[in-house]
This record gives sequence, C-alpha cells and structure tokens, in this order.
Amino acid sequence: MENKIKDINDCYTLNNGVKIPCVAYGTYKAADGKSAEIIRTAIEAGYRYFDTAAFYHTEEYLAEAIKESGIPREEFFIASKLWKDDMGYEETKKAFAETLRNLQTDYVDLYLIHWPLPAPDYKDWKRLDLDCWRAMEELYEEGKIKAIGLSNFLPHHIENILEHCKIKPAVNQLEIHPGYSQEAAVRYCEEHDIRVQAWSPIGRQRVLKEELVVELAEKYHVSPAQICLRYSVQRGIIPLPKSSSMERMIQNQDLFSFEIEKEDMYRLETMPQAGWSGEHPDRERVYFE
Ligand code: A2P
Repeated sequence: MENKIKDINDCYTLNNGVKIPCVAYGTYKAADGKSAEIIRTAIEAGYRYFDTAAFYHTEEYLAEAIKESGIPREEFFIASKLWKDDMGYEETKKAFAETLRNLQTDYVDLYLIHWPLPAPDYKDWKRLDLDCWRAMEELYEEGKIKAIGLSNFLPHHIENILEHCKIKPAVNQLEIHPGYSQEAAVRYCEEHDIRVQAWSPIGRQRVLKEELVVELAEKYHVSPAQICLRYSVQRGIIPLPKSSSMERMIQNQDLFSFEIEKEDMYRLETMPQAGWSGEHPDRERVYFE
C-alpha cells in the first residue's frame, strides 16, 4: 500500500479509488458541551474530514456547523457509523436513512459498522455482520455512500466479510496509539488493501505522560501529542484526534515538519501498554480508575 504522505492536505486513495484526507477530526464526546461550536472551531482550524457516528449524537451538530461555515458540502469528507443496536439488513437501511437526515445531506463519504458484535456473548455475529454489509453494499451501489468499511474489526471478524462480500471493505478503524500498536490487525488490513484509521490516537492523555513519549517530544521539539499522531501517520494510518481547543486543533495538524527515526518508531511500537481504553470487541468492557 502507498503510504507516502508529505502534507496535511494530502489524501490516500482507498481500494475503490475514493480519496480520503490523511488526518480527521474526531467528534466523539464533542457533544459534551457546545458541540456545534466546537466543530465550527475545528472547521476554522482547517479540518475537512469529520468522523462521527450515530452513537456519538454529533451528526446534527456537524450538519449545523457545516451549514454555518458556508463551505460547500463536497469540500467535506464525512464519515459515520452504524451502531450496535441497529445491526441487521433492514435495520441498517433504517439507521442509515436517519444518519442522512441528521447530517442533512444525501450521501456520506464513508460509512462503517461500528463494532463487529452487538455484545460479547452474541453467537450469530457472522451472519449479522453479513446482513449489515449487504445493506451497505446496496447503499454504496445506489451512490449514497462513497466508501464502506469497518470499525473495531480484528482479523477473524474481517475474514468473514472478505469471504462473502461483493465489495471489499475500504477502511478499518481501530484503537491505536504508542504502546497499543495493533500490529497483527494492521498487517492483516495492509495485506488486504484496507486503510487503517486510529481512534484515540493520543491514548486519552495517559500516553502523553509516558517517559518515552516525553523523551521523544523533547528530542524532536514537538509536543507529546504530536509524537503520538506522527506515529500513526508514519505507519500509513489515519489518526482521528479530537480536541476542544483551537490551539491544540492546529497543533494536531502540524505533523509534517519532523520525522520520527526508524529506531524511535520501533520503541514507540513496543513500549508498555499505557493507554488502552478498556474496550475489545470480544470482551466485556474494562473500566480503569
Ligand atoms: P482537549 O479537548 O482539552 O484538547 P484521545 O482522542 O486519544 O482519546 O484523546 C483526546 C484527549 O486528548 C482530549 O481530552 C483532548 O483534550 C486531548 N488532546 C487533544 N490534543 C491534544 C494536544 N495536542 N495536547 C494535549 N492534549 C490533547
């Protein structure tokens, strides 16, 4: 897969030819407070790729912010996701229609199955995923979705889709940050031409205080967050940072003025796991203090 990205405005080309910006703005938890305002600030800061989901309750805010910006819809790249409670063939069609209504648009650029299983003990997930996928393939063929993909799918979940699909997934979104590199899943996706994206690329700040991340921030004269984000970019992974401050929104796009040396990349990849959210598709959620 071609990973050479040199500028914040560069795009990757997905396996169906669709161009996707190399960094997105994540809207999860942007609903805690003045959401449309935060998204408006992110548009001002230069973001055009917005990652939302039915579950985040930020679709309407995103629509509002885009409308107020006066910038044409086609200049934005909008991604949303199908929530666990809406899985199934008919359910997917219905949930997607609601997403379009919320976003006040007639297409989304990217639509993902949010999680492979509605619950860890759900036995018939293979059939359920395929039902969702079939509905998404139809919506794709109707032109209502430009690219279809997955989120939180591990190789054994993806294999089921690949064995039965008509249209291959273009993207898989995974929790990734230094110390939580998801190497096996990333390698599997690369082998199958599926572009990987990183949610929680900064590791919920726990990673920012890690000795190695602080050491490298000093070495490269950048912030610990930039080290985390650059770590994704250098692996050909699209990070989805979220922030509520203009200053940090801008900083999080300054990822091309430095390059992490190979040896330091290995160290970031193999440092102790410090920032795991506690979420895993096949397990009950773990909560940390
Ligand atoms: P804030 O909104 O105050 O900027 P993650 O997506 O990895 O879970 O991390 C999100 C958290 O990281 C948010 O709480 C956000 O806080 C914080 N954050 C985002 N960008 C930066 C940055 N450049 N420096 C420090 N913290 C950041």
